[in-house]
Amino acid sequence: MTADPGGPLSGGLWFGGDYSPEQWDEAVWADDDRLMREARVNTATVGVFSWALLEPEEGRYEFGWLDAALDRLSRNGVRVVLATPTASPPPWFTLAYPDAMPVTREGVRLWHGSRDTYCAAAPAYRRAARRIAAALAERYAGHPALAMWHVHNEYGTICWCDHAAAAFRAWLRARYGAGEAGLRVLNEAWGTAFWGQHYSAWDQVLPPRATQWLPSPSQGLDFSRFWSDELLAAFREQREAIRAHTSAPAVPVTTNFILPDYQVVDPWAWSREVDVVAVDHYLATAGRDGHADIAFGADRARSWAGGRPWILMEQATRLVYSSGAILSREPGRMLRDSLGYVARGSDSVLFFQWRASRAGAELHHCAMVPQAGPDTAAFREVAALGRAVERIGEVAGSVVQAEVAVLLDADSWWALEGRGLRPARVRYLDEVRRDHAALWRAGVVCDLASPEADLSGYRLVLAPALYVLSDAGARSLARYVEGGGHLVVSFCSAVVDARHQVRRGGYPGALREVLGIAVEEFFPLPDGATVPLSTGARGTLWSELMRTSGAAVLATYAAGPLAGLPAVTQNRLGQGTAWYLSTRLEDAAHDRVVREVLAAAGAGPLVPGLPSGTEVVRRRADGGQSWLFVLNHADQSAAVPAVGLELLSGTAVAGRLDVPPRGVAVVREHAG
Ligand code: GLA
Repeated sequence: MTADPGGPLSGGLWFGGDYSPEQWDEAVWADDDRLMREARVNTATVGVFSWALLEPEEGRYEFGWLDAALDRLSRNGVRVVLATPTASPPPWFTLAYPDAMPVTREGVRLWHGSRDTYCAAAPAYRRAARRIAAALAERYAGHPALAMWHVHNEYGTICWCDHAAAAFRAWLRARYGAGEAGLRVLNEAWGTAFWGQHYSAWDQVLPPRATQWLPSPSQGLDFSRFWSDELLAAFREQREAIRAHTSAPAVPVTTNFILPDYQVVDPWAWSREVDVVAVDHYLATAGRDGHADIAFGADRARSWAGGRPWILMEQATRLVYSSGAILSREPGRMLRDSLGYVARGSDSVLFFQWRASRAGAELHHCAMVPQAGPDTAAFREVAALGRAVERIGEVAGSVVQAEVAVLLDADSWWALEGRGLRPARVRYLDEVRRDHAALWRAGVVCDLASPEADLSGYRLVLAPALYVLSDAGARSLARYVEGGGHLVVSFCSAVVDARHQVRRGGYPGALREVLGIAVEEFFPLPDGATVPLSTGARGTLWSELMRTSGAAVLATYAAGPLAGLPAVTQNRLGQGTAWYLSTRLEDAAHDRVVREVLAAAGAGPLVPGLPSGTEVVRRRADGGQSWLFVLNHADQSAAVPAVGLELLSGTAVAGRLDVPPRGVAVVREHAG
């Protein structure tokens, strides 16, 4: 991080969104200026997809329109997050460098006509991307409006072309060694003795292109790791091109990660390379689950940021785009949802986008200024939100602390989601989200953590479906428990090592000693089936035949092929305790277990005894000042103990804060 560690941003909370003045004429710009002032917009992300306008032909730049836009925004008091436009190469680029267009797994080369159509391993693309980034940096590094660089947009395009193949081989040589010796290590790591896939020369090694039946999971996992690194190299090149033109104080450089349900880049590795973590979050659901989902997204972002403030770069104002469906969010939720991110460490409330586009693929996407214009409920809600964000601006730079963590692992995600690999219906992110949601329901704010991180600061660590566990990860978890930690490992964990190979002697390979158990066999449950446990709880989705080797049995299976055998265990190791859940408990039972382990670990809710649906989070500044965020998702009002000044209404709170149904409050706390 090169940015100020106390807070990556200057000037309170950032409010605004993506802004595309190039889609409009002067009359609309004047309207934009007025409406931005009315809505208290102080930040605009500009230039995200403007490559074709900025460089209409190779090497010829037209910056006039961008100069005018930045000057105008600056005069209007709006800071600029300036994007490099490399997520959308111009059509001339396709014709000049057809080899830089991406090729699908099936071998189809794509054409321009949308965005994100490029191969990040193609030298021509990388050159062109560096060049436009450098040209922008040279011109705008000193612009008074410039507050942050936004490299690219949502890195995520994968390519299986020959450039990708060459780069993949180079990455593999660096990992396994060059020449014949390296190839031998690769053959061993990928287990190519299976199905006679042995490689006798390096040029036979390819990306996992479409093949007849199940592909090699080891090859797939390495390709995912490689592609994340390849995209990261492309990001770094642009970052360095920008930094070469930037003098102190450094303008932070970031890129926006995609938050929802798929993962192309390893967020832990990437977060070390950006000056500020920035995420785009589009909810997967608009209902009650959406509140927990906001917390899950925000906690991930904060954890990637190492606990420091982060940027919510994009969210939707109203409609929520879920896979295959458009869901509407009820009016009034924009404030509560947005402050849900701020409560958990975001120093911004930014949207895609400022003004709804008249044309193009996303003309029906909701916006701060909707198609129907500013005289609308949606814009009034945006303007009210802008005023609210201004009132709580003092929280910027403060942080959120957690004493519980849920493990989140890029390898386990890739491996469990990989083709031909998904064991039954176990979806990695579902399991992580589920543990997080149980903590959310228990009123506990948690971090997400990598298994290889130093976990010693946490009282309790949950490890759901940690399918891949490296030697380093296993050592880290053992150290954590031995040192007094409380660890809960769920089914389908430590099944394979970092090469995607099973450790001999039973699952969960490298955690058998920590957990005091060995799993002999998986017993996935049929769709919709449940299995009773001796405690009265029911397991779903998955079960396992395990025996104990030191662990105490807390629950056994009460029926079915595993009747009488252990289902839930507890093991003491060193100063700590490790539990194992071999099945997916139904929600209520899962919640009970989470509460029990929280109690055993001496962890608990921030404010005990709150009614269900009341979310409470505290941000704290270096000097000790704290702010209590209360989000009431319920239809009844909620009473929360608090002393201080409620910033949204400006009223004093003397011991008891009443938050109306679906309301939100932010209290600057002082001693009672
Ligand atoms: C992403 C992109 C935006 C826009 C939104 C809405 O987050 O970054 O450009 O496409 O999704 O779909």
